[in-house]
Amino acid sequence: MEQSKQNIVILTGAGISKESGLATFRDEDGIWSKVRIEDVATPEAFRRDPEKVQGFYNARRRPLLSGNIKPNGAHDALARLEKEWPDKAGGQVTIVTQNIDNLHETAGSENLIHMHGEILKARCGACGAVSPCQDNLGNGESCADCGEVNRLRPHVVWFGEMPLEMDRIYGLLEDCALFISIGTSGNVYPAAGFVQHARGQGAAHTIELNLEPSEGATFFAEARYGPATDLIPAYVDELLSHGIT
Ligand code: APR
Repeated sequence: MEQSKQNIVILTGAGISKESGLATFRDEDGIWSKVRIEDVATPEAFRRDPEKVQGFYNARRRPLLSGNIKPNGAHDALARLEKEWPDKAGGQVTIVTQNIDNLHETAGSENLIHMHGEILKARCGACGAVSPCQDNLGNGESCADCGEVNRLRPHVVWFGEMPLEMDRIYGLLEDCALFISIGTSGNVYPAAGFVQHARGQGAAHTIELNLEPSEGATFFAEARYGPATDLIPAYVDELLSHGIT
């Protein structure tokens, strides 16, 4: 498909939120070193022990509601790029995040797809309605849409479930001039395959900005390693000054 006017797609993972104080999954002290995916992040786990699963997400939601977790310089730089890039290059910037936190939107990003859902939203198991969630779940609350009691789950994509908005994401990847991957280990598909999809169309430049080489490092045309709050503001300055090089 012809490369259209310098669109940028940015994939982010837990690493971009690390310097805001949120844990990643697969680092030494990561979430999956403390609890098993099979116990808290699958539909089977939820059927087997809903209390344990709700407790896992309630504990991760609370810090975000406390107001103590704020976007960092990397989130802020991406929000700036989204605002200034259209005038600079005529293209759009879209963030596809694997993260379920709200730090990108708090930083001001608007073209944003949460492919793994959002922890500050709940989904009704009876009618499917999605609503804001500013409290613990699993205490007998009822759905605001259908009234069913005790049917609300975190609006989060579990292992074995389909990530959200995949058709839209592949369309964006096929129509971008630059694909940037930030703060993700490249362990989980389909996100880990986005770089190959973007390159598959032949036109996109691809760059990995991460603390260390990811599983998919060899698929990228370019890579820079270091903390996101160092790399991202500098790279955004470069893009806004010199364009895609
Ligand atoms: N700056 C940049 N990158 C960092 C930083 C930092 N300060 N700290 C850690 N990283 C990098 C790590 O080196 C690692 O490559 O962020 C990456 C985090 O990888 P994971 O913990 O695997 O997180 P992520 O890739 O987002 O996981 C993908 O897996 O468990 C599921 O649904 C969950 O969305 C998640 C998905």
